[in-house]
Amino acid sequence: MADLVIDPSKGITGELTPPGDKSLSHRAVIFAAIAEGRTEITGFLPGEDTLNTAKAVRMLGITVEEKGPGILSVQGKGLNGLSEPSGVLDLGNSGTGMRLLAGLLAGQDFFSVLTGDQYLVKRPMGRIVEPLRAMGAVIDGRSGGKLAPLAIRGAGRNVKPLSFQSPVASAQVKSAIILCGLYADGVTTVTEPHKSRDHTERMLRFFGASVKEEGLGVSVRGKQPLRARGTLEIPADISSAAFFMVAASTVPGSDILIRNVGVNPTRTGIIDVLVSMGADISLLAPREQAGEPVADIRIRYRRLHAATVKGDIIPRSIDEIPVIAVAAATASGKTIIKDAAELRVKESDRIATIATEIRKMGAVVNELPDGLEITGRERLDGATCESHGDHRIAMSLAVAGLAATGQTVVRDTEWIETSFPGFERMLRQSAY
Ligand code: S3P
Repeated sequence: MADLVIDPSKGITGELTPPGDKSLSHRAVIFAAIAEGRTEITGFLPGEDTLNTAKAVRMLGITVEEKGPGILSVQGKGLNGLSEPSGVLDLGNSGTGMRLLAGLLAGQDFFSVLTGDQYLVKRPMGRIVEPLRAMGAVIDGRSGGKLAPLAIRGAGRNVKPLSFQSPVASAQVKSAIILCGLYADGVTTVTEPHKSRDHTERMLRFFGASVKEEGLGVSVRGKQPLRARGTLEIPADISSAAFFMVAASTVPGSDILIRNVGVNPTRTGIIDVLVSMGADISLLAPREQAGEPVADIRIRYRRLHAATVKGDIIPRSIDEIPVIAVAAATASGKTIIKDAAELRVKESDRIATIATEIRKMGAVVNELPDGLEITGRERLDGATCESHGDHRIAMSLAVAGLAATGQTVVRDTEWIETSFPGFERMLRQSAY
């Protein structure tokens, strides 16, 4: 078990490029596998989650070669080129890997089994199993299919198109249904209560498919061929950049440039929240890569004040709420975060785990059923904290330690490898 020891920082400075976007890396290897032709993916996240997805794709009979750091070459075989895996597909810690692949596998004419680690097998799978069953797949699992392991007998030629009203704003649910819908005769539609990240829609278009968006609904016609386009460049992950954005906004004397960050509007809630708290953030050199907006982000220290974070901005900042809680803990005034009950079913119950851990550092936090109330203090105190097996909790606590008095120890930080290999090195380079 690895511990991370964090001393107070005198300022976060310099330039950095975080590793590739996790959401895009999962999708890139999955869509490249069912496209016709070879795709070279650059900027692929070499984290445990995305490497597990690449391994699962290999087990489906697709050649995925590592050509260099973050460079994968995928020999796509078209929509119907996958083959029955001879073993169980283990997605480790990754909800995205499991849910997206479940959607893909529900459309095949073969049998497969998906499992994960002790955290993933506790996370809700009924939200994808029910609609995928309605599309014709036969799926079993623990608790009647509510929990993994999941055994999937794909619907093959009998995939039925579905019009689905999702009770949650979840890109994983939306993407699972769309992936299965690619195998249906007819149009599949998913409508959400709030718009979730739209990487699947953009990547389908990148591979030449047509996707319709109307309000909060997304529709895709099945049996459209996907075509490889050569190189697919993945930008750095804004969810990883977020730790440095908050660090620079909370440690006096900071001034950093984070390069080549994906700034898809469905992901930039962290920027909007920090700006509403008074942060000094500018987006430089805006450009586009593989249908995704990209920019360099400069952040300079400015004392933050409280904000209210709720409604549409929640799905746009869902993975960043733990680090937003850290920002709020040192901002002036009382921050209120609501409408974020989804946090309770992430890698850990992030409402409970972040509240418990930042309280150890002296933060004044009240847990709500769907969020947090945090009253900021001038500085937090160093403490010994736990990751709860959650990469984003571990990294949020490390950031909290940079702006605290005294030393902070974050225990059990090996989970950071799931999404941000090299985090400690980058932090030490820019924070000291
Ligand atoms: C993701 C969607 C989000 C997010 C997760 C990645 C994706 O989950 O929390 O880290 O890549 O589709 P939900 O779709 O369950 O909200």
